Amino acid sequence: MSKGPAVQKMFDGIAADYDLMNRVMTMGQDQKWRRFVVDRAGDPGKGWVLDLATGTGDIASLMEKQFPKGHHLGADFSLNMLREAQKRFSNQAIDWQASDANYLPYKDNSFESVTFGYLLRNVDDSLQVLKEIHRVLRPGGRVVCLDTTPPEKNILYPFIRFYFRFGIPLLGRFIASDEAAYSYLTGSTMDFYKAKELAGIFQEAGFDQVGYKKFMMGTIGIHWGTAKQ
Ligand SMILES: C[S@@+](CC[C@H](N)C(=O)[O-])C[C@H]1O[C@@H](n2cnc3c(N)ncnc32)[C@H](O)[C@@H]1O
Repeated sequence: MSKGPAVQKMFDGIAADYDLMNRVMTMGQDQKWRRFVVDRAGDPGKGWVLDLATGTGDIASLMEKQFPKGHHLGADFSLNMLREAQKRFSNQAIDWQASDANYLPYKDNSFESVTFGYLLRNVDDSLQVLKEIHRVLRPGGRVVCLDTTPPEKNILYPFIRFYFRFGIPLLGRFIASDEAAYSYLTGSTMDFYKAKELAGIFQEAGFDQVGYKKFMMGTIGIHWGTAKQ
């Protein structure tokens, strides 16, 4: 059975508390990673850019502020998350659209760049979604992906694991009144591809110049690549 409907329902349920939970859980680091995403995506000129799984819209907002000449789309399949985005950034030139990353309602070669934060852990088939993103990028267009990544087994591992296993679900219970959604975050992170494996999937999907950088003691990964010419 596809993860999609349960994931959609879960994000619809936590939309109102999502931003506060993000700031607390990441100890205020999350916007720094999104700014890194925007820098890697680069200047689209007057072209179209897509922030997929935009949620409450932070990446799309930063992108529009940094590159106001571009045309900005923020897309997600959770309508409640999109409503929050619309409310928060109503003064910015961003089109908010409902769409599913598995079947993007855009023509081939439409975008200069596609960004997404915390999408791939939530889909059934990362390769399929990356191929779909490749299809809508123009040749030479850029993809940038922010997500959690399973921590390495080093000296910090027991502490990180403790925080993921107990700390994050507890914060979820008190801040978002939804411990299960944040236990899901922990489970889906531990089960997700290691950063190096994910880089291989980007290459398999047709991206060149693939690279990645880790943050937050190796628990966050940002991957990037360029659509083949
Ligand atoms: C953890 S939130 C991330 C929001 C935002 N990108 C950020 O940086 O905070 C994940 C988002 O991905 C969306 N999402 C998950 N699967 C999706 C899919 N198949 N198509 C479109 N959106 C999806 C969810 O609805 C949710 O808003």
